[in-house]
Amino acid sequence: MNASDTTRLLGECARRRADLAGMIGTGSVAVLPAASRKLRSNDVCYPFRQDSDFWYLSGFNEPDAVLVISSERGSDCHATLFCAPKDPQQARWHGDHAGLDAACEVYGMHAAHPLSALDDMMPQLLHGRERVYSKLGQDAAFDQRLIGWMHTPAPAHGKMPDRLVDVRHLLHELRLFKSRFELEQMQRAADISCRAHARVMAAIRSLHTEAQVHALLQHEYLSHGHEAAYPAIVGSGDNACILHYTDNNQPLQPDALLLVDSGCEVAAYAADISRTFPVNGRFSGAQRALYEVVLQAQLAAIAQANKSQCWDAVHDAAAASICAGLCALGVIKESEQTAMESGRYEKYFMHKTGHWLGLDVHDVGDYRVNDESRQLEPGMVMTVEPGIYIPADDESVDVRWRGIGVRIEDDVVVTRDQPRVLSAALPKAVDDIEALINAG
Ligand code: GLY
Ligand code: MN
Ligand code: MN
Repeated sequence: MNASDTTRLLGECARRRADLAGMIGTGSVAVLPAASRKLRSNDVCYPFRQDSDFWYLSGFNEPDAVLVISSERGSDCHATLFCAPKDPQQARWHGDHAGLDAACEVYGMHAAHPLSALDDMMPQLLHGRERVYSKLGQDAAFDQRLIGWMHTPAPAHGKMPDRLVDVRHLLHELRLFKSRFELEQMQRAADISCRAHARVMAAIRSLHTEAQVHALLQHEYLSHGHEAAYPAIVGSGDNACILHYTDNNQPLQPDALLLVDSGCEVAAYAADISRTFPVNGRFSGAQRALYEVVLQAQLAAIAQANKSQCWDAVHDAAAASICAGLCALGVIKESEQTAMESGRYEKYFMHKTGHWLGLDVHDVGDYRVNDESRQLEPGMVMTVEPGIYIPADDESVDVRWRGIGVRIEDDVVVTRDQPRVLSAALPKAVDDIEALINAG
């Protein structure tokens, strides 16, 4: 991130802390732990990824820190960060820490203390409050520690908080609505991801394995200084019918379709994009027919992603369109109405049409409010990703349909007007895909 974006990010984090402080009120304090490093094997860790909630409120990318937010009378918000102090010995091995001074001067905290002071200082920060908001159940050891701090005897005539409340409901409601800055990061993530997918399409006739496709995606992300937002799905032929296929280790089948589901993250904001295309550059009749059904369903679903609709309308449009298409092709041999009412089409379209997208690929936010499907509002970002999956061993359909899996996935912002497709730069019409593959 360049310096001006970092400044904007940290300004946003301060506003988000103030928003959360306003929501929890003066009788409360919110305590949020950063992620810890996770062991991969023996003493080697996975690359560190900050906890999304912690990142949202701090922009601070170090493990094991603890953020404490309170609302003070007469001021908006008070933020204390417990973090690793600067340590030349540690820096020699692991790189430098931001340290306590930067926590205040750069990250805008009101106070900063070393992690070693947590057990001494947390009871003081909790003293006099009624409630503690935290992320219960995420880390049992941290929950126990927090309860221990709450149970520390209060000073004479003092009171410790006796209610522990989950902060996620409040925090995730904030995260659901993306600011202009967040949408810019998401657009960047989508742009780089679109380029990665397009590179794969342009190169596909010279590639031989799913792993080579995966490597090309990674090359594009890493060379822009970004990471994949989730493990890529690169499924050739029947592998496209395995929804969470990530082995990516089989040869490409020249006459089959390839399903690629991949996106990178920028400033921790994810892109999540899928395209399906013929390895040999030409859709067969059956491949094209199923592809067109999915594409029409996706366009119908995207058209529903606007503020006059509710969340379920997006899926309902895709489901009706896919059901109609499968019946018209004879893949489902019953009337459209019967197939819809019985849910028979779900045998081939077994997942929902999308999910919220943001700092998490499957982002936070309620899909239902007061037991009803949620109204869409400007600033929400979702994926729209219908699919049809007919495994090779499905003997209930004509042989030409077997072993074909298709998903088309775009990232869509609900706006005041028409839905905005962040991943619109990546071709998805049959002719455009074939032209891109065969231009190489
Ligand atoms: N890439 C995961 C998903 O599409 O939900
Ligand atoms: Mn996806
Ligand atoms: Mn998705």
